[in-house]
Amino acid sequence: MNARTATAAVYRGAGPDVEITEITVAAPRRGEVLVEIRASGVCGSDRHVIDGEWHVPSPTVMGHEGAGIIVELGADVTGLAVGDHVSLVWNQACQRCVNCQSGKPWACTDLVSNDCVMPDGTTRLARGEEAVYPYLAVGSMSEYAVVPASAAIRMPSELPFEIAALISCSIHTGLGAVQNNARVSAGESSVVVGCGGVGLSIVMGLRLAGAHPIIAVDRNPEKLALALEAGATHALLADEHTAAQIQELTAGGADVAFEAIGNPRTIQQLPGHVRLGGRAVLVGMPPEDAPIPLDVLDLCYRGITVIASNYGGGVPARDFPRYAALYLDGRLPLDALVSHRISIHDVNEAFRVMRSGADARSVIVF
Ligand code: APR
Ligand code: ZN
Repeated sequence: MNARTATAAVYRGAGPDVEITEITVAAPRRGEVLVEIRASGVCGSDRHVIDGEWHVPSPTVMGHEGAGIIVELGADVTGLAVGDHVSLVWNQACQRCVNCQSGKPWACTDLVSNDCVMPDGTTRLARGEEAVYPYLAVGSMSEYAVVPASAAIRMPSELPFEIAALISCSIHTGLGAVQNNARVSAGESSVVVGCGGVGLSIVMGLRLAGAHPIIAVDRNPEKLALALEAGATHALLADEHTAAQIQELTAGGADVAFEAIGNPRTIQQLPGHVRLGGRAVLVGMPPEDAPIPLDVLDLCYRGITVIASNYGGGVPARDFPRYAALYLDGRLPLDALVSHRISIHDVNEAFRVMRSGADARSVIVF
């Protein structure tokens, strides 16, 4: 097929706004699929880029938390068909390196999707003569995207696209951190600092795991209300008393604590919330070039395990359908994560809402 025209949200260097403009999307090449995007979540990682905290090539189509329908297959694609509903993977593991082969695609040694290019180092996107890059090799804030077939995970057709989109990033990141990284067991005491899309997904994962108590912390009371709906047993408004309140509620520190903001200060404070021998799980990603000092002697004395989580330490092809099934069975209240369904033309307003800390997640629907 010929190239298609798509309306997309394009980043052109740090600044508060992305540009909504038309791009062209070339046909999928060998091993790739063309997806008509139906939903794309507005995620904290997109904001990190737009606010200049992380660096990517420019111009770039933003969005990496996407879902849609396959409309065209490149050569040699097997196991997928036109019409399949898919969630897209932003950590596009090579499937061949030693880590991929041992079930750790998040630690792929050959990853190029972070460079915002296809596995062959090129892009299918352009604006006139100018090359345009797909953020994390997805670029889902666009009516069409091309991804490697292995980055399109088939989902049940009865799953709403908004939910399929969220499963591909915040839910996989949050539930995965609980299940794969921290391996939380029933009855463990837990703390979640930051209750955006990722933190709320962690709360839901903790409830599924049977953790108790589940203490949610956020600076925004609206987020705390959502956390209680998602399964938190306690909600603390972040202030100078938070650390002492956690100590009191957990009799000296939680078994496991998660940071889901990416704020250097709350990351640094996290090990202080866990008891001797506990786990501090780092899920939020801080700005680039901002090393965070940790009191290593204290960590050693107290035998704290610090776990750095990347994309939930999971396996998308295994986990995405599992999360879809839990949602469809009514065991994961993921609808609570979608606070606004917006048009792509309103994405800059969605970033403003995100910066203010209000609401759960805006999802662009096409
Ligand atoms: N103390 C407490 N809560 C805070 C603070 C703070 N200092 N700063 C921000 N928050 C809260 C906000 O109110 C919001 O509820 O943290 C939450 C962050 O949520 P989002 O901005 O929606 O971000 P999200 O998409 O959940 O991603 C969080 O995880 O994967 C990473 O890159 C992602 O670093 C980002 C993090
Ligand atoms: Zn994301």
